[in-house]
Order: sequence, then structure tokens, then C-alpha cells
Amino acid sequence: MTAQSIQNQIEALRTQILYHERKYYIESQPEISDGEFDRLIRELVHLETAHPEFITLDSPTRRVGGEATLGRRAQHRGPMLSLDNTYNFEELGDFDRRVQKALPDQPIEYVAELKIDGLGVSLLYEDGRLVRGATRGDGEYGEDVTANLRTIRTIPLRLTPVQPMPTVVEVRGEVFIPRDQLDEINRQRVEKDEPPFANARNAAAGSVRLLDASVTASRPLDIFVYTLSYVESIEITQHTQALTLLAELGFKLNPETQLCSSIEGVAEYCQRWTSQRESTHYEIDGIVAKVNNIQQQQELGATAKSPRWAVSYKFPAHQATTQIREIGVQVGRTGVLTPLAVLDPIQLAGATITHATLHNEQDLIRKDIRIGDSVVVERSGDVIPKIVSVLAEKRNGTEKIFRLPDECPACQTSVQRSADEAAVRCVNSACPAQLKRRIGHFASRNAMNIDGLGPAVIEQLVESGKIRDIGNLYTLEKADLSELDRMGDKSAANLIKEIEGSKAAPVEKVLFGLGILHVGENMAELLMDSFQSIDNLASASAADVESIHGIGPRVAESIVDFFREPSNQDFLSRLRTAGLQWSMNTNEAQDTAQTFFAGKTVVLTGALSQMTRSEASERIKSLGGKITSSVSQKTDFLIAGDSPGSKFDRANQLGVSILTEEEFLERL
Ligand code: IVH
Repeated sequence: MTAQSIQNQIEALRTQILYHERKYYIESQPEISDGEFDRLIRELVHLETAHPEFITLDSPTRRVGGEATLGRRAQHRGPMLSLDNTYNFEELGDFDRRVQKALPDQPIEYVAELKIDGLGVSLLYEDGRLVRGATRGDGEYGEDVTANLRTIRTIPLRLTPVQPMPTVVEVRGEVFIPRDQLDEINRQRVEKDEPPFANARNAAAGSVRLLDASVTASRPLDIFVYTLSYVESIEITQHTQALTLLAELGFKLNPETQLCSSIEGVAEYCQRWTSQRESTHYEIDGIVAKVNNIQQQQELGATAKSPRWAVSYKFPAHQATTQIREIGVQVGRTGVLTPLAVLDPIQLAGATITHATLHNEQDLIRKDIRIGDSVVVERSGDVIPKIVSVLAEKRNGTEKIFRLPDECPACQTSVQRSADEAAVRCVNSACPAQLKRRIGHFASRNAMNIDGLGPAVIEQLVESGKIRDIGNLYTLEKADLSELDRMGDKSAANLIKEIEGSKAAPVEKVLFGLGILHVGENMAELLMDSFQSIDNLASASAADVESIHGIGPRVAESIVDFFREPSNQDFLSRLRTAGLQWSMNTNEAQDTAQTFFAGKTVVLTGALSQMTRSEASERIKSLGGKITSSVSQKTDFLIAGDSPGSKFDRANQLGVSILTEEEFLERL
């Protein structure tokens, strides 16, 4: 057989398999038996194994096993907005009145859809093939989760051709885990001593954002697509028309969507679904109403956060009654002690509730919450359940009043009470409970984003004495980690890689990660914009800090105190030596670029917009990197510009790290 005919045969098999995947997974109308389907897959695997040169990423055999993409940023075609919420029919009516006012004398049709409780994602198709899947992120940039999303069978790897066939299509939808599957996953997690997912959304997000896509593949994820966010060469005038096109292209849509001729129709839909909200096999948390006419949508426009042509109607929060078994004490990152109620487990909105947070001691006193009390707990969306009220009439006299202890439960240091008694604080900076929280904060997504450094790992690292402060993180070795419970060699190596990779995080992330009291993300950015480096900030006086517009005396004092503390100075200097970003100036950036590219083999492909390929080569070479023309096992990075071509596929097949132009520039 000629190479061409083998390739044709492979292609024909793929088309056939993708067709049957659609029939089976999306339309639930299989035309062939499972056995026949498996036979097709086996035949394709066989041919691809014999002819790996014909393997492409959109092959149905490649749903698992592509290169990990997590950590790359993905820019959305247009902003991925969120929705304004309404909580009752009056607010829903207000929304309609605003729409009517903006579009006087025009008939308005609405499309009512279920609001699926999962993870919003965008999927980009070029020439009919899935090229990228991303999370929402900050709305402009999401996280590249292509490899993970590819494992979801209801996400088409190739689109079903339509006439005319658009070259670029971007769609948005919600990835979710069916209710019964969530219960099963949580049962297994508890068995393995892993924390259960608190709700369907966390489960979906946690499963999509896994480093190892083969684990994602084992999760029963599904998707409903609800928006055609970008399409070329086809004129769309109605949202319903977009939905029809989406279905024709092979996407899975929610079957309960309904066209309503007025807001009253939407309200009826809301009413019906509020009473049958538990009837779906997936979690829903409300309704979305969208103006059907696209021209009207455009006229209405959007605010920075949400479109003016759509709104969500949130179901009222679920409430349930249970009993407080115990009240425990949590020690926060800054040493603040908060009471935590341990509850008789109850099912609430599809999740098992075992705890409720109580703000502070004052809150507890005000609501007169006692151990043994029957209480009403409420859970709305992703909010941690809270205690709404105490059923005092159910008391039998055995209930016990609770007060926060005088000693920190983790290190037994005497606590300090603030003047107004609202905050009770452990002031021991070496307190292990605080340390665990501080490390957790440092590693968290919005700070250094060290994946795999979760509570269980931190707990063991602190308890075993392997970590005494954040500075120790960067001297950890693989052997330190592989000794930990449930930490295989591979996860240990991954975590070391993650920790190493976090050194590239910009200085404002480092500053935020330090967890200085009152220094949140925005404050950290503001401070670095003004001071340019952590060293400059560390040597600043309270007056210097306060002179910055937007910073008050409390923040300034907390910053100065933090840098004055000798134990902080010690770990800060170790972080600096470890090579973390310490300033915004370009010399520092040069240093990291140097360590990043030194000794690395780099391939360039596609067109770069900020410089020519030869300029890029020169820059990399000047930083000690080596440029080669083809991708092989030895390649450390592929830098992919626009229209990257076959080198990109090859790098993907070999698992070579790929940098977008933007990421490349960041490294420079
Ligand atoms: S439309 C600009 N439709 O809800 C339009 N969103 O709170 C925004 N969601 O981020 C999206 N079901 O992740 C839309 N049928 C539906 C939805 C839906 C769930 C999610 C989506 C969005 C969030 C907004």
C-alpha cells in the first residue's frame, strides 16, 4: 500500500469514528453496536501504531495522551463575560424594563436556558478542528486546558461540516459532572482519605484543571454548549439560529432551552424550573434569559463585567436544619482564630454539608449559637454554608456555650484580643497552623500558582519539619517529597518542577504570596508599580509607603512591621537567593531569562508579531540557548508564533513544552 492510501484509510476511519461518537454521545442514537465501535477504534490504533507519522491531535485515539497544556495562557476571541444576577421576579422585570427602555417600541423575544453549575470554557476550532480549549480566567485570558478538554467525549474534536463551512469557530459552554457521578467520586475520595468536592462546580473545575489529562479522562465530565461566540462567513441574526448551527456542527446543547415571546414567559420558565430544579441529572443553579435578536444584543452592549442583553435568575438558596455536634477552632494565615461548627452531616443542594464557618466570636455571641443547638444552615452557589438562625425552641438544656480559648490550639501561645474583641489572634509567627496557611496562600493560584502543593502535602511537610518557613520550599528535593504519604515518584518530580517553575512568577505575585496583612493582589501591584522592588519596599518607612495614593496608615504599618521582623528577613533573603523575581527592573528580568534559556535547545515556528524569527534566535543565543531547525526529543522548547504548522504537531506528539509568543516575551 502506498503511504497516500494508508493515510486515506486512516482518515476514513477517523471520520467514521467521529461520526459514531456524535451519534452515541451527543445524539444518544447509536447506529452501530459497542462491539463494532471498538473494532473501528482498534483498527485505527493498529494503523496509527504502524504509521505514527500520520497521527494527528484530532484523531479519536488521541483524546488522552496529548501534551499537557496547563499553565499556558489563552486569550479569548472576545471577553468572556459573566452575568448579572436577579433573585426574584421583580428584579427580572427590572431587567426587562431596562431592555425595553434601550430598545423602545421593539418587540423583544427572550431565550430561556438552564444555568448549568459547572465550569465555563471556550473552545476554538480552526478548519473544523479543535485547536484550543480554555477556562474563563479573568475573562480576557483563560488557562489553556486543551489536553484536558479533549478527553471529554461530548466535545467534538472535529466539527460536522455545514455549508458554507466557517474557518474559525469559537464556542462557549459549561463543563459539568452529573449529580450521581459526583456522589460516587466523593465516596471514592473519602475512601482514599482525600477531601470530597464541596459541590458540582468544584468537581468540574478540579477535574478539568488537572496536570495529568489521563486523570481528567477518568472523570465523568460532560458539556453543554450555549454560545457561539465567534464565527466567520455565516450571518447569524438570532441566538436560536446560533443554537441550531451549533447543533449542526455537532455540539451538545441543553434540551430544555425555550424561546419566550416576553419576560412573562421567562418568569413562567423560572417558576417551573424552581420547583423541578432537582429533576435534572446535572446541577443547575438558576436560569439564564437572553435577548434572542443579535442586532438587539449588539445595541444593548455590555458593561465591563456582563452583557446588558442577558441576565441570570438565581434559585433561592437551599436551607436545611441540622445540629451542631462540636465547635472547633481554625487558625488563619495571619493568626486569627475563628470558630468552625461541626455539623451532623446533611444533604444540601447536592452536597454533603459537615461544617459551617462562623465569622468570629462576636457573631457567635450575637446569634447565641451553642454546641448541641439545632440550626438552620443555608448554602447558595459556591458560598460555604452559613448558619442562618438557631432553633432555640428545640433546646433541652444540654447545649453548651462556646468561647474561643485563651491559648492557640496549635502552638499553645497565649492569644491576644483586639480592643473591640472582634479578633482573637495567635501572635506566634512560628505557629505551625499559621505556617500551613501561609504556605497554602503562597502556593495558591493567584499568588505563586504551585500546583500540587495542597493542604495534605503542606500538612506533612510542616509536621515532619521539612519546612519551617516559606524559604525552605525552594531547597526541597525530590527525595523529600517522595517520602510523603500518597506521593509517587512522578508526582514528586512534578511538584519539584512546579516549584522551580514558580520562580518565574512576577514580583507582584511574590509580594502578594508573602501574605502580609492587608496586602491583597491589587495592593501588591500598586506597591510594586511604585517601589519597583521588594528590597525598595522593605527599606521604606511607613511615611514613604503612606505617601502612595490609595494606601492608608494601617496598611503602611503592617508592611513596615512585616519587613522589620527578623524571622521574616531571614526567609526573605533565602527566597531572593533562590532566584524568585524580586523586582520589576529589566536587569532582574534578564537574569531569569538567562537561567531560563541557558543550555536549552529551542525551535522557532510560525510568524512572530513583535520581532522577526532571526531577531528571536539572536536573543535566545545571547542568553545561552541553542537554536535548531527541527523538533526532536532533545528540544526543550518550541516557540510557536502564528500559523505554526507541522513543527507544532510534532512538538505536541513528543510532549515538548510549547511557548506562545507572549509567554516567550514574558521570559525575555
Ligand atoms: S451565557 C455573556 N448561558 O454562568 C453570556 N452562561 O454567571 C454569559 N452558565 O460564566 C454566559 N449556564 O459559565 C450562559 N446557559 C448558560 C449558562 C451559563 C451556565 C455559566 C457561565 C457563566 C456563568 C455566569
